[in-house]
Amino acid sequence: MSLKTLILAAGKGTRMKSELPKVLHKVCGVPMVQKIVDTCSKIGSIENILILGHKKEEVLKLFQNSEYVVQNEQLGTGHAVIQAKEKLKGFNGTVMILCGDTPLLREETLKKLYNYHKSTEATTTILTSIYQNPFGYGRIVKKSGEVVGVIEEKEATDEIKAIKEVNAGVYCFEVKELLSALEKIDNKNEKGEYYLTDVISINVKAGKKVEAFLLEDNDEILGINSKIELEKANNIMRNRINNQHMENGVIFIDKNATYIEENVKIGQDTIIYPGVILEGNTAIGENCEILGNTRIIDCKIGNNVRIESSVLEESVVENRVTIGPFAHLRPKSHLKEEVHIGNFVEVKKSTLEKGVKAGHLTYIGDATVGEKTNIGAGTITCNYDGKNKFKTTIGKNAFIGSDTMLVAPVSIGENALVGAGSVITKDVPENALAVSRSKQVIKFDWRK
Ligand code: UD1
Ligand code: CA
Repeated sequence: MSLKTLILAAGKGTRMKSELPKVLHKVCGVPMVQKIVDTCSKIGSIENILILGHKKEEVLKLFQNSEYVVQNEQLGTGHAVIQAKEKLKGFNGTVMILCGDTPLLREETLKKLYNYHKSTEATTTILTSIYQNPFGYGRIVKKSGEVVGVIEEKEATDEIKAIKEVNAGVYCFEVKELLSALEKIDNKNEKGEYYLTDVISINVKAGKKVEAFLLEDNDEILGINSKIELEKANNIMRNRINNQHMENGVIFIDKNATYIEENVKIGQDTIIYPGVILEGNTAIGENCEILGNTRIIDCKIGNNVRIESSVLEESVVENRVTIGPFAHLRPKSHLKEEVHIGNFVEVKKSTLEKGVKAGHLTYIGDATVGEKTNIGAGTITCNYDGKNKFKTTIGKNAFIGSDTMLVAPVSIGENALVGAGSVITKDVPENALAVSRSKQVIKFDWRK
């Protein structure tokens, strides 16, 4: 395929009122320019060229190996494209130009646009949509059904403003015609910018074939210029993501009350309750129940897992585990099959083998806990001396009585028993009982 894409991402995004470059704002967890580049990579483009300017170092962090061109001063979308002249010269094919602020465009749409452009043998094809409130977009001006030009909001007369067909900011150009038209654009307009959209009327006047490709789902072309539009885009994307999960067999109690990022995977018949937030590269298995106010970030969760009102970060949870309410898994925790952690239990960088139970008010950090061991309420692995972290090892079938302090480094043998209220500073051998607390004293009739 002789197609290249050019992605305009040099603008500051003044209307966004943000320190962060506009194109780095995220829609359902993915920076919008990243989303556009990913979509472009799927349509068979042989090269994606980015136009960068404002805070380009920050944007480049996402695209270590990408082709890019710098636009030092942001003098308009036409000026931005001119910066890529050297990269396009000599390329005898089609260039698709897109804006870095339209992340909702779908792969199929771009493919359809390209196919339409090819099949009509146009030199220029512009993606358009009908908007009931077209404010802010360039309007498509037609005469007897043919495109004659694009007029920007700022230049538009009342008559033009009434036009509802708008420019999506996506175009296919035959490179030769694009480059020769770009020589003719100027900045004699209200904004004092070089408009890429002027290329349309220049090509029409030169007798070149210019086509408009009308898109039905106008949600797709939403250009994000402000935080209000950003929220709108997040909503649309969230809806798309949640619908896709439902099509795959996931159950939502209220799809509008959950936030799930784009790369999350969820298995069939898993139920997502209101207030659930799933982020990053999280994968959840089948038949799970994820209940209210749970946030899961970059975790791998097995099948038949139940999680209620808990926070899980960068951890692995195996089949039939139950978590919460109010538990916290911090990074590098691994809960094997049938583990249960309950109210106010925090686990960090620890492995809990099959069937371990820690029902209440416990901190397990830098530890391994053997199969079927029971950790009583209020147990704490004291893993930190203010400078260094130390490990706690607990064997299988052990029983740690309530309110135990395990002062690491320390190990508790298989089948050992630790009496409630103990402070354990020395290793406990297997099958042993360890108690470390002052003896109870009774003084009869003391209160009399
Ligand atoms: C542009 C179109 C408008 C269209 C709308 C669709 C022009 C003149 N207008 O308007 O017809 O309806 O998009 O969303 O093209 N950029 C640069 N360098 C610059 C200026 C902008 O790289 O000098 C980049 C921005 O980073 C952005 C994109 O180009 O990603 C579009 O710029 P923006 O200012 O948002 O254009 P609109 O006013 O929305
Ligand atoms: Ca825009």
